[in-house]
Amino acid sequence: MPLSIAVKRQRACAALMQQVHAVTDAEGPTPSALHALKLKLVALAARSDLFPLSDFEMPVTQGRNHPLLVEENDGHGLYLTINMPGKEAAPHDHGIWCVNAAVSGVEKHEFYSLTDTGSGTVVKTGEVVVRPGHGMAMSDRAIHSTIVEGNEPAIGLALYGYALARFPAVVWYHPDFGSTRASPSKRLAA
Ligand SMILES: [Fe+2]
Repeated sequence: MPLSIAVKRQRACAALMQQVHAVTDAEGPTPSALHALKLKLVALAARSDLFPLSDFEMPVTQGRNHPLLVEENDGHGLYLTINMPGKEAAPHDHGIWCVNAAVSGVEKHEFYSLTDTGSGTVVKTGEVVVRPGHGMAMSDRAIHSTIVEGNEPAIGLALYGYALARFPAVVWYHPDFGSTRASPSKRLAA
């Protein structure tokens, strides 16, 4: 009997996670390790037959994450993300490394460096357009903003050092108000 798409997807995600650990366990999340993870995630995202939209509910509002493979305890989390056209996020860091790759649609990421911790002033240092065949990698303290471009939802794969349910505080930078704001850490609650 041929394997269902869901089983193929599960196996492909498990194979990816094994490769991810071969890198992260040996090296930690160094810039070269994150680059290697990005290439692996881009390769998985290119297999769009494994991620038919009929298997994933669309967001009720702006965006939605579907767990693909979430490891226990302080393991990694792999998700399929759906972000609707126009969805944007102000500059923030995650406190944990992150790698993205597009299945379809286009999301622009702008990167920043923090020039004044007190006021939360950030200065743009670069940008990456995540579209099919492309991805992005960011370290635990990297700051990015995002916007979905075009008329299609941005469907992508997102791999995080920790599962979303065990995320550290996410820090948002609001230079216009001279402030930063941190969402509560989920590290203790999990
Ligand atoms: Fe983010």
